[in-house]
Amino acid sequence: MLKTLTAFLALLVSSAVACAQPALVSFDSATKVFRLDGGGSSYVFGVNERGELQQLYWGGRLGATDSIPAAKAMREWASFDSSYTNTPQEYAGWGAGLFMEPALKVTFADGNRDLVLHYQSHAATASGFDVVLKDISRPIFVTLHYAMDPGSGILARWATIENRGTDAVTVEQAAAASWALPAGKYMLNYLTGRWAGEWTLNREEVAGGARVIESRRGSTGHEANPWFALQRFAQQPSEADEEHGEVWFGALAWSGSWRISIAKDQLDAVRVTGGFNPFDFGYVLHPGKTLETPIFYGGYSTHGMGGASRLLHRFELAHILPNPRATTGADGTPLPMAPKPRPVIYNSWEATEFNVNEAGQMALAEKAAALGVDRFVMDDGWFGQRKDDHAGLGDWYVNPEKFPHGLKPLIDKVHALGMDFGLWVEPEMVNPDSDLYRKHPDWVLNFKGRPESEQRNQLVLNLARPDVRAYILGFLDKLVTENDIAFLKWDYNRNWSEPGWDQMPPAEQKAVYVEYTRNLYWILAELRRRHPKLEIESCSGGGGRVDLGILKYTDEVWPSDNTDPFDRLTQQYGFTYAYTPQIMMAWVTDSPHWLNNRTTSLQYRMLSSMEGSLGIGANIARWSPDEMTMAKGLIAAYKQVQATIVQGDLYRLLSPTDGSEFSATETVKADKSQAVLFTFIHSTQEGRGFPLLKLKGLDAKTNYALSSIAGKARTGTPEVASGAWWMNHGLEMDAGFRGDFQAAAFRLDRK
Ligand code: DGJ
Repeated sequence: MLKTLTAFLALLVSSAVACAQPALVSFDSATKVFRLDGGGSSYVFGVNERGELQQLYWGGRLGATDSIPAAKAMREWASFDSSYTNTPQEYAGWGAGLFMEPALKVTFADGNRDLVLHYQSHAATASGFDVVLKDISRPIFVTLHYAMDPGSGILARWATIENRGTDAVTVEQAAAASWALPAGKYMLNYLTGRWAGEWTLNREEVAGGARVIESRRGSTGHEANPWFALQRFAQQPSEADEEHGEVWFGALAWSGSWRISIAKDQLDAVRVTGGFNPFDFGYVLHPGKTLETPIFYGGYSTHGMGGASRLLHRFELAHILPNPRATTGADGTPLPMAPKPRPVIYNSWEATEFNVNEAGQMALAEKAAALGVDRFVMDDGWFGQRKDDHAGLGDWYVNPEKFPHGLKPLIDKVHALGMDFGLWVEPEMVNPDSDLYRKHPDWVLNFKGRPESEQRNQLVLNLARPDVRAYILGFLDKLVTENDIAFLKWDYNRNWSEPGWDQMPPAEQKAVYVEYTRNLYWILAELRRRHPKLEIESCSGGGGRVDLGILKYTDEVWPSDNTDPFDRLTQQYGFTYAYTPQIMMAWVTDSPHWLNNRTTSLQYRMLSSMEGSLGIGANIARWSPDEMTMAKGLIAAYKQVQATIVQGDLYRLLSPTDGSEFSATETVKADKSQAVLFTFIHSTQEGRGFPLLKLKGLDAKTNYALSSIAGKARTGTPEVASGAWWMNHGLEMDAGFRGDFQAAAFRLDRK
């Protein structure tokens, strides 16, 4: 009961979303129970009788006056399963017979490796708590940070590890957080991929043992993405549903090597632990020093995978991405905070590859402007001796043969055409054939005297080094200061090998896994501080560096080098489980496509890209007047509804995966005044028509007018009908909507 609380903190935290419930944070000093409420969820933990911090509840929001019993350690199941390992600790040290994944593992200077963390103290913060734990005998302190978002109920958790002793301690494993779910049946969802094949959604029942998703590559990686979602189901996995049922999800904000382990213990309870990848990890904590982990965000929805991703999208727009701002709908209704929709860009890569020059880029810029493009981006090839991927990385001067007068004439031309200018860079890399490498061969990641393995003929600069950090910030700052550049496409085209750092004492070289990424973030933040209007894209040969860490400093990402419009449908489908369409850049490129040799119509390509933040990446110098007219019309139509598409509530109506013939998505503006619908046919079979589409998320009592962006609805479809009609009766497509690679799009506007 509230009355029994001896200390009660009710902190109304300004909400990012209009009408959201306030976050409530409380601590009961009698029971030592901490409680955080936000959106539709509650998170509760307490101090158990031994002094460990134990998770008590994570799920749907509890009643305001519900009292929660004090934490009690789980019992020993048998002599083989200690109470210490069965108890769902918030942050378990490896010691005392822990068999589950530890949150923290250390080696002390004397060889002792036993770490048992007990509650010491806590302090309330603006939106949560800082809870201090300490080892039972040694001066290792861990502060667990909790910050609850009142709008979404998404909880940020991270840890600061501090050595207050007199000897150095080596941290061998440090998670941001462990999340616990009670014994039950769960379906795990996670994203994997490869170059040109990112964003595959995997689903599997959580079985006994551990499933590990990770990157050992020094960066986020294409192979797996640091996001998970767990759906609860009663009997059969098929009961897990896109729009119904409980889902717990999480995303780790870290762009270096990372690991998330999802483990079901011998008593069927599930624990998710994530943070720095412990593989090859070792961070020496000198006396008085601290190590801060990345943030692990976690959330809960009762509206299935769709509800989980809608919460995450709103959270990313309001709390992760740079420059969120308040907006209102047409009738003044406050809309959730979000950055401005992205400019429609043109990018020259697929048109020219490395063969860029002043005349060619100017010709492309003229055609791009005629289409209604807002931003012209010149890709790789403009600098140093960069004729192909064998040379030039590291030498960030303008190539004098290609641009004899520097970049200014091109940038002026782009501005005169009414667009702003963006430029490709790959700051962390060097080709051995470059002036930079000839001058500073020691700047690359390597082990002294060992081979340096090249990938794409390039090596990785060791950004953990202060001199490399200064060099990268220096040349970028100069480039942006001397040229009117609105946007950098920041690329990163290989993973690490031989990650040595021989400037450091041998025992401290593994700190490269922390310091490299911290310096990357520092440069991005400093560059933005010095150039507040500068916008940045995170690209890593496509979607190799997409996570909530890099997204704090970047405005958009390049999801994949694969721009085949059909492949993109499945990639976009997977991508949106974890990330908002606002950041999902999508270029329209040429047909047949270079990767699959698939031929598709321009309308299909345009509509596929219009599901995200639209760009054009084709060789438009060769486009016919008809193609120019169609693209221009669709770009104009896109701009009218772009905010709804990229910032609205997304409903994945029909999945394009698993051999599906059809797919469809719908986005609804937060004030429910507009919805946009995309429908795609892969290949109709046996004469089957497009399935009836029952729309979602509309206001049942509001009338909406249907209009076509491209394609037709069934003859006789009402021009205006209630939200109830569109959601219950549904929308039927025109009988002629059949064949291979067909696309149509519609908008619904409040009447
Ligand atoms: C990889 C990127 O993903 C491409 O878009 C392009 O920028 C190339 N690098 C350039 O080398």
